[in-house]
Amino acid sequence: MIIAVDGPAASGKGTLAGLMADHYGLPHLDTGLLYRQVGMLWRPFEHDADADARAVEIARALDASSLDADVLGTAENAQAASKVAALPEVRQALLQFQRDFANQPGGAILDGRDIGTVITPEADVKIFVTASAETRAGRRAKQFEKRGETMDFDALIADIRERDARDSGRKDAPLKQAEDAHLLDTTDLSIEATLRAAVAIVDAVMARKAE
Ligand code: C5P
Repeated sequence: MIIAVDGPAASGKGTLAGLMADHYGLPHLDTGLLYRQVGMLWRPFEHDADADARAVEIARALDASSLDADVLGTAENAQAASKVAALPEVRQALLQFQRDFANQPGGAILDGRDIGTVITPEADVKIFVTASAETRAGRRAKQFEKRGETMDFDALIADIRERDARDSGRKDAPLKQAEDAHLLDTTDLSIEATLRAAVAIVDAVMARKAE
C-alpha cells in the first residue's frame, strides 16, 4: 500500500505520516528533509551569481542516507529549502529517489507537497492535511520550544505564509491538493484525533478497493 500525505508548512503532516507508518508498519519518508538538506548546503552560495547552478549540483550529489531531522529543523533551512525547491532541475534530481522509495515492495508512506500529484499519482490513498496558519504557527512554536529555541509568534506566521506562497505559486509541482486526495483539516483536532481520522480514511479506501 502506498500512502501519499501532502500539505502546507507545519500542517502536522510529518507527525501524522510517522504515526501512520507505525500503525500500518510501513517505511516512511519525510521528503521535506531532502529539500532541507539541499537548502542547508546551498545557503552559503545563496547570493552568488551561479546560485541556481550550485543548488542543482548539490541536489544531484545528495546523500539521502544521512539526513538529520534535528539539524535540518531550523527556520533558515526551511526557507532555503523552499527556495531551492522552486527550481525544476533540483526537483528532477530528487525525483527518482522518492519514486523508488514509494515503489518498494510492501509499499510506503511519503509526506511532502507533491507526493500525490507528481511523485506517486498512483498512490492507493492520498491525504491532504491542512490547518489554519495560526494553528500551524502555534504547533511550530511548540516544536521550537522543545528544541530550546524561542521564536516570535508573528515571525513564525510570516515565515509559514511566505513559504506557503512560494510553494503554491511555483510553476513546477506546486503545493496543491490532488483531485483524488481526502482533505483533513486538523485545526481543531488533537494529534490522536488526527491519526484516528486518517486511519478511518485509509481503511475505508482500502476496504472499497478490496470489494
Ligand atoms: O515539509 P517541510 O516543511 O520540511 O519542507 C520544506 C520545504 O521543502 C517546503 O517549504 C517546500 O518548499 C519543499 N518541499 C517540496 N516538496 C516536497 C517536500 C518539501 O517542495 N515534496
